[in-house]
Amino acid sequence: MKSDRFAEVVVIGAGAAGLFAAVRAAERGKRVLVLEKNTKPGVKILMSGGTRCNLTQATDRRALGDAFPRDQSRFLRSPLAALGPEELVDMFHREGLRTKVESTGKVFPTSDRALDVQRTLLTMLQRSGAKLELSTPVFTIDRSADGFVVDTPGGAIHASQVIIATGGQSYPGCGTTGDGYVWAKSLGHSIVPPRPALVPLKTKNEWTHELSGLTLPDIRVSIVSPDEKKPLASDRGSVLFTHVGLSGPVVLDVSREVTARPRAAGLLAECDLLPDVRREHLVEQLQSLNGRRQVRGLVETWLPNRLVESLFHESNIPLERTAAELSKAERLRLVESLKATRLELTGTLGFAKAEVTAGGVALDEVNSSNLESKCSPGLFLVGEVLDIDGPIGGYNFQAAFSTGWLAGESV
Ligand code: FDA
Repeated sequence: MKSDRFAEVVVIGAGAAGLFAAVRAAERGKRVLVLEKNTKPGVKILMSGGTRCNLTQATDRRALGDAFPRDQSRFLRSPLAALGPEELVDMFHREGLRTKVESTGKVFPTSDRALDVQRTLLTMLQRSGAKLELSTPVFTIDRSADGFVVDTPGGAIHASQVIIATGGQSYPGCGTTGDGYVWAKSLGHSIVPPRPALVPLKTKNEWTHELSGLTLPDIRVSIVSPDEKKPLASDRGSVLFTHVGLSGPVVLDVSREVTARPRAAGLLAECDLLPDVRREHLVEQLQSLNGRRQVRGLVETWLPNRLVESLFHESNIPLERTAAELSKAERLRLVESLKATRLELTGTLGFAKAEVTAGGVALDEVNSSNLESKCSPGLFLVGEVLDIDGPIGGYNFQAAFSTGWLAGESV
């Protein structure tokens, strides 16, 4: 027979945010129960960073916050003051998890094993005294006279305070199906429409699909709308060609501007394949090439042959062109393709392949100094369920850890 149970604090979701919230609240003497629908905790931690878990960025709290859009950065000030990136890394070190910093500033466990991060969190959770119940999907949360009633397959759980840490709705197979938005809405919150962010882009140009698997370590990608003078977003870094378009860190970072538009059709990804070389310099190099030499030979000293072949083909220049044969118009077309190849976007891979969800519980309805709801006292919201989405590089985990920690400190 199902019987009602009581917990002082119920945390829903055992991801980065929920686990940190539970640890901190239980350390402070609260009776904490964590409910997780999956059969294991921290599923996204395990799959993150290519199963290496990029847990934060090696920077200070100010720079970390500044990497988020302005309203989010303001909201994150108190959570980051409670637990900044340096404190987070120190905390992991004290728990025996050694970390390393890569050239991009990304912080990983020295072991390159996300499993070690998950295990460290579970050790902290166990020591704190918080209880974890797996395979327990929460169906609904309702207000009661003295708090909340949380409905689960095992019956109702009464709680004085509830922390929603259910994440967003990307990679729904990981348990993140947007449940938190529905409950927050029923408890009075506005939801900024969720949309995929950090998501691979689809291109119309079939030649890019044929380059699937090719990585360019350092190019500039700008998202351009024919109706607007300035690019919507522009960033520089590594890009991967896929069988449907483009991926890689720099593409994921600019993708939020694509999903912010009602339709991707009409938008272009403009690629500067040689961002350190000016157009005039390329023209000079091409003009000073020995007339008998094939032009492709020079371009292949800068870029992989497969890409060079495609660029020549797309620019309508025969591959065997020698420097003497290259007309002025061909030279200009070639330089244009190197500095501003324009790819037509048709969409993104959507929530199924988005690393994070942009949108979520509106930030102005949550008190950033303690993460408590302004609509429903006793309710706390942490991590990706909030309208928070940062760039690639450990920023999203840091936001989840910091908001979770501050809520745990505040319940
Ligand atoms: P998270 O999504 O981690 O946890 C929410 C939990 O709530 C889930 O376990 C879910 O099952 C549970 N839940 C949902 N509904 C429930 C219900 N009804 N009842 C019970 N439980 C419920 N970030 C970064 O900083 N560095 C990185 O390297 C990566 N890499 C990366 C790779 C991939 C493939 C993805 C998909 C994402 C990343 N991220 C990342 C993003 C990062 O994983 C993400 O921002 C955090 O996991 C968010 O943490 P939360 O705790 O808020 O949610």
